[in-house]
Amino acid sequence: MIIAIDGPAGSGKSTIAKLLAKELGYTYIDTGAMYRAAALKLLRLNINLENEEEIMNVLENTQILLKDSQVFLDGEDVSDIIRTEEIGNVASIIARYPKVRKWMVSKQRELGEIAKNVVIEGRDAGSRIFPDADLKIFMTASAEIRAQRRVQQLKEKGFVVDYNHILQKILERDKLDYERKESPLRPTEDYIIIDTTDKSIEEVIDYIKSLINK
Ligand code: C5P
Repeated sequence: MIIAIDGPAGSGKSTIAKLLAKELGYTYIDTGAMYRAAALKLLRLNINLENEEEIMNVLENTQILLKDSQVFLDGEDVSDIIRTEEIGNVASIIARYPKVRKWMVSKQRELGEIAKNVVIEGRDAGSRIFPDADLKIFMTASAEIRAQRRVQQLKEKGFVVDYNHILQKILERDKLDYERKESPLRPTEDYIIIDTTDKSIEEVIDYIKSLINK
């Protein structure tokens, strides 16, 4: 059983996907964390983000492992430090490149195939990674509520953040994700769209569970 949850930054997909995976006893795959870990490494190495070949040279010598909600970059636990909005933006910049996406998609398919029962979340989980997923959800919410949620999450992780700055970054990231040529963020007609703006986490989880039971 593969449940794919896609949507823009801050739409609630990580929170929901994690809880759902836990309740169902499924493996949780956070595909965005892989783009973020790659972004962190490229920033540390000061790689030119306009140069796809240079980026690929680094990626081909990189190991990114996911274990529940933890992310390991070449053996280092980077789970928390990849969560800044800056890393998110660099992740969006490199996610435009076809070769980068191909590398990511092949690793993500491998992870899903090993795990069998998965909740996988990102931007292309149901459109590209697992087009035959059993259930495809597209989660959205207003940009303002998404920024508020992001501020809250980052504060809980101990980051000092400003709402307007985060809103700006989210809008920038939306533009990159929706408008890129390669796998743009777009629900195909087999997605079920959930607007989480006015919904509680429990309501969304219950609704998805009712879809699974169908
Ligand atoms: O989901 P998260 O916000 O952590 O993802 C960071 C960035 O990685 C996204 O803004 C997007 O550009 C990219 N991404 C992607 N495809 C995915 C997951 C993430 O392009 N499947």
